[in-house]
Amino acid sequence: MKLSQRVKEVPFSAIRKLTPLSDAAEKAGKKVYHLNIGAPDTKTPEEFLDAIRAIELQTIDYAPSKGIKELREATCGYYARRGKSYDPEKDIVITSGASEALRFAVETICDIGDNIVTTNPFYSNYQTMAKEIGIKMKTFDTIIDQGYRLPSKDVIQEAIDERSRAILISNPSNPTGAVYSHEEIQRIVDVALENDLFIIADEVYSEFIFDGAEFASFTGVEGIDDRLILMDSISKRFGACGARIGALICKNPEIMDGVVRLATSRLAVSTVDQIGAAALYDVSDAYFRNVNDEYNRRRHAIYEELTKLDGVKVTMPEGAFYVMPELPVKDTDDFAAWLLNDFEDEGETVMVAPAFGFYQNNDAGKTQVRLAYVINEKDIRRAIQILGKALVEYKKDHE
Ligand SMILES: Cc1ncc(COP(=O)(O)O)c(C=O)c1O
Repeated sequence: MKLSQRVKEVPFSAIRKLTPLSDAAEKAGKKVYHLNIGAPDTKTPEEFLDAIRAIELQTIDYAPSKGIKELREATCGYYARRGKSYDPEKDIVITSGASEALRFAVETICDIGDNIVTTNPFYSNYQTMAKEIGIKMKTFDTIIDQGYRLPSKDVIQEAIDERSRAILISNPSNPTGAVYSHEEIQRIVDVALENDLFIIADEVYSEFIFDGAEFASFTGVEGIDDRLILMDSISKRFGACGARIGALICKNPEIMDGVVRLATSRLAVSTVDQIGAAALYDVSDAYFRNVNDEYNRRRHAIYEELTKLDGVKVTMPEGAFYVMPELPVKDTDDFAAWLLNDFEDEGETVMVAPAFGFYQNNDAGKTQVRLAYVINEKDIRRAIQILGKALVEYKKDHE
């Protein structure tokens, strides 16, 4: 018996691979501050569980493959309030998180061996998805010294070849925290138009943009409705990762025909979660403001603490809830494991995500880590202070 080559090539999640070590550290009595995974700790609005408690169905039947009408309408209502009109009958399919929306998008537009063009670093599951489906990823670098801005048109163009089918952009960016300007988004649009590529817009962090900055969503660009595929999710928007509800939204009927076929083959998304998710869209705008304020405080706290550490290079994140600093160590994979196995400060340590899993063919990841500021401000400050002490200690042992 043998396993498929495909599954052998799927990388083990860079974010979760240290979990056995943190489990062991916690079992041994250490307190571990988790900065490794981007699961929001903010309370899911009570509308979600209230709606589920009110369910009177006698049978939890399959939902329609496209998703329940109430949720499709509620999601389109959200976009309408933000200035973009989508038809809940034609332009949207509810998916199991943005993760499934991405898979559907790529399966609809790519054959095996085609490629998708994206930033380097990228959200690590893009790579997992590519290996799983049998496509390649082509990347253009965004670098810490330039605040992880998008590079010039020529640099983006170099990543494109005759097998490229789409440019995939996470904005705000996981993992770097960059938020791209109107001009940068237009640059991507121009390259996509010149090369006749689709644009896959991963805007799942669109509510996490700070300092009142305006969000340059691809949905606001005129003339690209036929090539824009939007990945949507309630995971971050409402702090509801466990509900596994997302959507693929697109105004190109050919794409939607393909997506509906894929959606039909997996039957449906959880009926119960969809009912809860539809109710989430009843929350007031104050909900978004409060959550945004909380993350903004955390953002300032993590940046401030990181800038106090010797040899750490960091750019102020502008959105999402991640920051990607460079540490004064040669191998952050080894350092992250050492933090869990060998280090403690008054019985406490920190778990970070080594950055190599967010990069393709680039050694920058060996000296960087991705930190998610999804714990409270006090804990963030303490966690970064621990990180500082650990860096001093690690240097003694490893030089
Ligand atoms: C950039 C980005 N896209 C997509 C996803 C997937 O989200 P979902 O929970 O909706 O599948 C994540 C999750 O962390 C993410 O960070």
